[in-house]
Amino acid sequence: MAELLSIDDCERLSVDQVWDLYRRYVNPGQVNIFSTFAFGRELFTDAEGMYLNTADGRRILDFTGGLGVLSHGHNHPRILKARTDYQRRKRMEVHKIVFSPYIAALSHNVAELLPGDLNKCFFPNSGAEAVEGALKAAYKSRTPRRDFVLHADISFHGKLIGSGTISGSQTGVFDFPKMANTATFAYDDLDSVRARVDGLRRPDGTSNVYAIIVEPFSATTLTGCSRAFLEGVREICDREGIALIFDEVYTGWGKTGTLFAFMRHGVMPDILAMSKSFGGGKSSISGLVVRDGVFDTAYGTDDDALLHTSTYNGFGEECVTALEAVNIAVEDDYPGRAERIHERLVGGLSALQKDFPGDIGEIRGQGALVGLVLNSPFELVEKALAAIPVGPLKNKRSFIRKLTAAALMDDLYAREGVLTMMIENGDFVALTAAPSLIAEDADIDRFLHSVRASLDRGLGKLVSTFVATKLKMMLGLT
Ligand SMILES: Cc1ncc(COP(=O)(O)O)c(C=O)c1O
Repeated sequence: MAELLSIDDCERLSVDQVWDLYRRYVNPGQVNIFSTFAFGRELFTDAEGMYLNTADGRRILDFTGGLGVLSHGHNHPRILKARTDYQRRKRMEVHKIVFSPYIAALSHNVAELLPGDLNKCFFPNSGAEAVEGALKAAYKSRTPRRDFVLHADISFHGKLIGSGTISGSQTGVFDFPKMANTATFAYDDLDSVRARVDGLRRPDGTSNVYAIIVEPFSATTLTGCSRAFLEGVREICDREGIALIFDEVYTGWGKTGTLFAFMRHGVMPDILAMSKSFGGGKSSISGLVVRDGVFDTAYGTDDDALLHTSTYNGFGEECVTALEAVNIAVEDDYPGRAERIHERLVGGLSALQKDFPGDIGEIRGQGALVGLVLNSPFELVEKALAAIPVGPLKNKRSFIRKLTAAALMDDLYAREGVLTMMIENGDFVALTAAPSLIAEDADIDRFLHSVRASLDRGLGKLVSTFVATKLKMMLGLT
């Protein structure tokens, strides 16, 4: 009989054993990458609120916001209760042919909170699935059929074939088979959208574009679209009969200081994609919300009603979790919390920038989605490498930036007990200061104090220590 591991066995695995299992059964490269960092060389026992606990009793301040997933922090008590109550009652999740009060109520609440007739909801499990569902609904709702979808040059919409094809940030990362008929415009550049739309007409002059997809605030570059841009795109879509999709997978539910980033500008999408903190940090759920009229033309007949479904969409426990996550975000005013976090965080980071002008190049972001763009301490090397035109070296520039951010991340974790993350998109690299929306002033102050302490040690020194540690590991000297 096969020798299988139990849950109790999992709890007893050492980090070396976990690495070994990853090497053999998951992905060896992940071990090489993450074991470079101090946080990749230990396991966490549990997590609560803003904190992670390590096996040796360290309390780590988690300032990553779980890359968008953890607005509610770790293991929010109301989220845990919603899930355990659901389990205790032995609710039924499986059958799609009977009705779910949870899908019904969650859809109601989401529609209540969104403006206008953004009413028809579907709940798959990942951001990429929500994006691809949005594309499909947009395509299906256009009569006669149209061929093209437009996306921004810097966009990130996911890593499946469809969502990956329309992610400009993934272009050139690796060459996978692409979805047909996509075209790019420059982010926040209305002329570029106009030119693309004008270039994609049928012989009779009508548009051949079924959708334009936009991130009103781009979480991977920490820049937002202007109101004028969004209004202009809305106007083009109305005039040309194109569906406008907003991707708020990362930015939804308060993160940027409004419930959704588009609400700051008062411009309506035809379809909205959401995920991440929608699941309260516990549920892998995403959402796709379609305006009534668009839904009616896409899936409004009985014949078409089942054209877009998936096995796990709308599972009960996921919906119950999302229901509670949304209610918490509203009751605890997550948008307001994000604004207050922004003020304190950016105020503190600006003070640090004054004290370390050579290290901190830029502070960028909105709400509780802020990034620290670091100046590489090896600027000369960086410039020299950027000037070399050959292919394999062309990414070296962002490599040095990544190395700098990684070294600060590592020091923050190892010496200060603060977990941060890096985001990147093309040449753009930043250390994220994007805490959960439950962060209190003391958490923000601790983070700021820690960044100061790390920078006091010297960014150049942090980079050389980080590289030396990696080299020692590679040579088996640690
Ligand atoms: C804006 C945006 N869209 C889509 C996605 C894809 O979501 P997922 O990783 O759940 O597929 C992400 C993920 O980070 C995202 O930030």
